[in-house]
Amino acid sequence: MTQRTRQIGGVTVPTLLYGTAWKEERTADLVARALRMGFRGVDTANQRRHYREADVGRALQAELQRGLLRREDVLVQTKFTFRSGQDHRLPYDPAAPVACQVQQSFERSLSHLGIDVVDSYLLHAPSVPQGLGKADIEAWRVMESFYDAGKVRFIGVSNFAPDQLLTLLRRARVRPAFVQNRCYASQGWDASMRAICAREGVTYQGFSLLTANERAVRSSLVNDIARRHQRSAAQVIIRFALQLGMVILTGTTNPAHMVDDLAVCEFELTVAETRAIEHAGT
Ligand SMILES: NC(=O)c1ccc[n+]([C@@H]2O[C@H](COP(=O)([O-])OP(=O)(O)OC[C@H]3O[C@@H](n4cnc5c(N)ncnc54)[C@H](OP(=O)(O)O)[C@@H]3O)[C@@H](O)[C@H]2O)c1
Repeated sequence: MTQRTRQIGGVTVPTLLYGTAWKEERTADLVARALRMGFRGVDTANQRRHYREADVGRALQAELQRGLLRREDVLVQTKFTFRSGQDHRLPYDPAAPVACQVQQSFERSLSHLGIDVVDSYLLHAPSVPQGLGKADIEAWRVMESFYDAGKVRFIGVSNFAPDQLLTLLRRARVRPAFVQNRCYASQGWDASMRAICAREGVTYQGFSLLTANERAVRSSLVNDIARRHQRSAAQVIIRFALQLGMVILTGTTNPAHMVDDLAVCEFELTVAETRAIEHAGT
């Protein structure tokens, strides 16, 4: 049965990460609640447009001070976001070279989060829609230097296409540990990217599993399986994704759903059920 953690490069990584996007003034409360409920990984970004990284840090520090949680028990993941993905609330000087922007953004992340080491640091999206630009490689080199200096434990990417990941794998000195992507059922649950990840030893993190796949969530296939296991359709989709080998992001704002999402580690789909969902093409 898939557990709540897995080992990656000797580090214990939770298989369910609590996503902190779009929560605005509820961010700190929801992160605190998620940690109390049992989530052991949080995903954020130094991108004020969608995240309140400083509120994630406030909640994390408050929970650590309560003494029921140790820093090493929680995987903290944040991101560097290029200018095109930001609004006017920038965490760096836009006139500075890209390498300086990454440095400035990272220093601010450490300060927002109140930590010395970021467990996982992602390049939020490539700077260009196809291939990789000079800025992507420049940003990656700085991320590699954070790794060398022990300031991050993993580096990775997000919103990458398969060819972009392959290019990065060719050029990286420190290989990406994670790819975090929106996972569409209609694309075989990001089958081509997952295949590259499996071959290259990169861990795939899936987001929008429920929101991007409403047809799958509502399908009779998934709902029949849910009835058989006495679980919800949402739990079946999340469990399915775990059994495909993904690390899952969920940003639920509902405490009952937090319990449900964590409970996907308590049941198992059969191989036939997993195959059926994988190939339904919904
Ligand atoms: N790298 C990127 O560019 C990127 C982009 C988007 C998101 N992300 C990350 O991924 C995280 C998750 O984002 P997401 O796009 O997957 O959406 P999300 O914010 O997690 O939304 C999930 C939706 O599913 C519902 N839900 C969750 N668990 C459920 C359950 N057990 N039963 C019924 N409904 C349930 C939630 O409703 P309730 O709130 O009512 O439970 C919500 O409507 C974000 O917070 C962020 O950290 C990253």
